[in-house]
Amino acid sequence: METPGTRIEELRDEIRGHEYRYFVQNEPTVSDYEFDQIVRELQRLEQAHPELITPDSPTQRVGEQVSGSFPSHTFRQPMLSLDNAYSFEELKDWDRRVRERVSRDEIDYIVELKIDGLSVNLVYHDGRLETGVTRGDGHSGEIVTANVRTIRTIPLRLREPVSIEVRGEVFLGRDTFLRLNEERDSAELPRFANPRNAAAGSLRQVDPALVAERPLDFFAYTILPRGRSQAEDLERLSGLGFKINPNCVRTRSLDAVIAFYERWESEREELDYEIDGLVVKVDATSLQEKLGATTKAPRWAIAAKFPARQATTRLVDIRVQVGRTGALTPVAELEAVEVGGVTIRNASLHNEDEIERLGVSIGDRVLIERGGDVIPKVVKVVSPAPDRRTFKMPETCPVCRSRVFREEGEVLRRCLSQTCPAKVKEAFLHWAS
Ligand code: IVH
Repeated sequence: METPGTRIEELRDEIRGHEYRYFVQNEPTVSDYEFDQIVRELQRLEQAHPELITPDSPTQRVGEQVSGSFPSHTFRQPMLSLDNAYSFEELKDWDRRVRERVSRDEIDYIVELKIDGLSVNLVYHDGRLETGVTRGDGHSGEIVTANVRTIRTIPLRLREPVSIEVRGEVFLGRDTFLRLNEERDSAELPRFANPRNAAAGSLRQVDPALVAERPLDFFAYTILPRGRSQAEDLERLSGLGFKINPNCVRTRSLDAVIAFYERWESEREELDYEIDGLVVKVDATSLQEKLGATTKAPRWAIAAKFPARQATTRLVDIRVQVGRTGALTPVAELEAVEVGGVTIRNASLHNEDEIERLGVSIGDRVLIERGGDVIPKVVKVVSPAPDRRTFKMPETCPVCRSRVFREEGEVLRRCLSQTCPAKVKEAFLHWAS
């Protein structure tokens, strides 16, 4: 039987591998949610067996690894991460703990959107941008000033000659992200899994001219030194020339926080950038200071994460469906996997060109995503199987066996038989509906 000690070591190894692929190679092989679950299991085990905690455990560090290609900068104040709440229960527990710690019945909260990008720290001296740094491990990050300067929404000169630090989120718009992945397809480079990886990859380009071609964007949310409250700080940032996210509320009601969450969970697709949840922050700086922070995250803020939309699983087979018009579409048959509370067994592969673009073969581990569409899609291959089987579209209809045709310039193959049972059945269903 496995002992807690061996399980802990196993989890640590697994996490180290994921961290390396995520932060150093920008090539994650699991979804963020899955990664979080592994870390949580390790945290639970370490809490139950504190004697087994070692300083080199992945739980004992603020953040990611610095890749080494850029010079580093040590922060005057660490750039902490956020604890996550995955349910209203967890959110309510957090709220209760906050109120208990500061002995108050009611707290003013600021609720902001959690932008799916990467945080950077900007150092301004006498109103001029001096240094731009990635979050790195939270204590020191990589100096990427030249790249940060290409971001139009980061002022090079402030409206007042102040010496401050500003923190916020660098992100890529949805359109830019899609375009970037198309370019990567053409260049036969692996796709980025999400806009954040794409933004991270872009910000760490060695050539700023290349970065400038990928219009990165920036929302500011922290100014140092702090003012009296988060609300005041956001106003100040805006006054200095920064773009702040307009979608935020100030409230003392947890029900209002939950309503805001529900609203954005259903409306997130309407934004032209991606969000992965909300950030709930205690508004008053004095209370924030009272609450303090752990080594990893402040106690005065929490990320209310939206349910996961991505997961990894194995592509077991590719089945070919015949539609009403005779179009043959490949459908991914997956090892069942749960994504945000729904069990997924199939995903769309669209057509054979898409299969080629993805470079996917049967047996591979793939990243799938439940996006705004009803049918989940295969985003990319995360690890090719050693015994992978290449898929080929059939030359004959999988239902009636008559020959299929692909017209010049068309992406789809069609079964042209008038009597194909699949076509007849689909046509009947269409008519009946
Ligand atoms: S505040 C100490 N506000 O989420 C508090 N973070 O998962 C620091 N993020 O590292 C963060 N939107 O990169 C804050 N409105 C927002 C945010 C936000 C996105 C990111 C940030 C942070 C990560 C934690």
